[in-house]
Amino acid sequence: MRSSAFSALLRAMLLAALALTLAQPCLAGEGKQSPAPKRGILLVAFGTSVPEAVTAIDSLKQQAEAAFPGVPVRMAYSSKIIRDKIAGEGIAKRAPAQALADMAAEGFTEVAVQSLHAIPGKEFHDIVSTARAMEGMPKGIGKITMGLPLLSTPHDIKAAAAAILASLPKRGKGEAVVLMGHGTEHPANAAYAALQLALWKQDKSVFIATVEDTPGLDEIIPDLMRLGARTVHLTPLMSVAGDHARNDMAGPEADSWASKLKAAGFIPKADLTGLGSRPAVSRLWIDHLKDAVKALDQ
Ligand code: CO
Repeated sequence: MRSSAFSALLRAMLLAALALTLAQPCLAGEGKQSPAPKRGILLVAFGTSVPEAVTAIDSLKQQAEAAFPGVPVRMAYSSKIIRDKIAGEGIAKRAPAQALADMAAEGFTEVAVQSLHAIPGKEFHDIVSTARAMEGMPKGIGKITMGLPLLSTPHDIKAAAAAILASLPKRGKGEAVVLMGHGTEHPANAAYAALQLALWKQDKSVFIATVEDTPGLDEIIPDLMRLGARTVHLTPLMSVAGDHARNDMAGPEADSWASKLKAAGFIPKADLTGLGSRPAVSRLWIDHLKDAVKALDQ
């Protein structure tokens, strides 16, 4: 009995000593008062090397600023290839880690990071890792929250399907739409199949194909034929209508989607509008940003 009471006392003393030790560096440092809270937003797009495509990203930034008046909104590009490419043209864009380091230096204490990606693939998970690594560094940003990509939760899929259908022009019989997703070997590629199912529940003439993975355009051409489509509208399922949309989708080369569809007997009509420039859809990214900002308060 006595010895256990003694060891409890000893433990309490040790804990008190430890607490003092932990508090010490703070007293010995730059003062114990925490810095005045300063909130910011960081939007992270994949990025684009096409100057005309930047309008979609600018539009998303303006919407974020309108949703949070007085909160500074910064921008980063997650693609190193894009950053390096445009750096050669004199356009400097920051990586997510650099943007967060700059914000820390400017005294931001809490930052909501919003991904402007379509699906939660590798690019998104890299941003999450970066944000986690940058959170709580000495004299850095105390709290960093993450806003999800467009097509993340089952609710997102449903909302995106409705928003995409609402933003497409009215079509008659014999007309179909093919949305060009990027595609990835990451498991998040399944988001395209989920969205396809949600679209088909409302409209059997809207298809998704991807540039880099499955389904490819070739896989859906038989479906377009079965539907009896003559005219096929092409538009990107990406925040911007960048290089993939302008070249792989609408370009004049023989292996572009427009050329392949033409060769298969369809009349292709390309619409170079990124999802960031379709207000019904871009609003959903801003909804995710609102969740991330709300999470700063928790
Ligand atoms: Co690509």
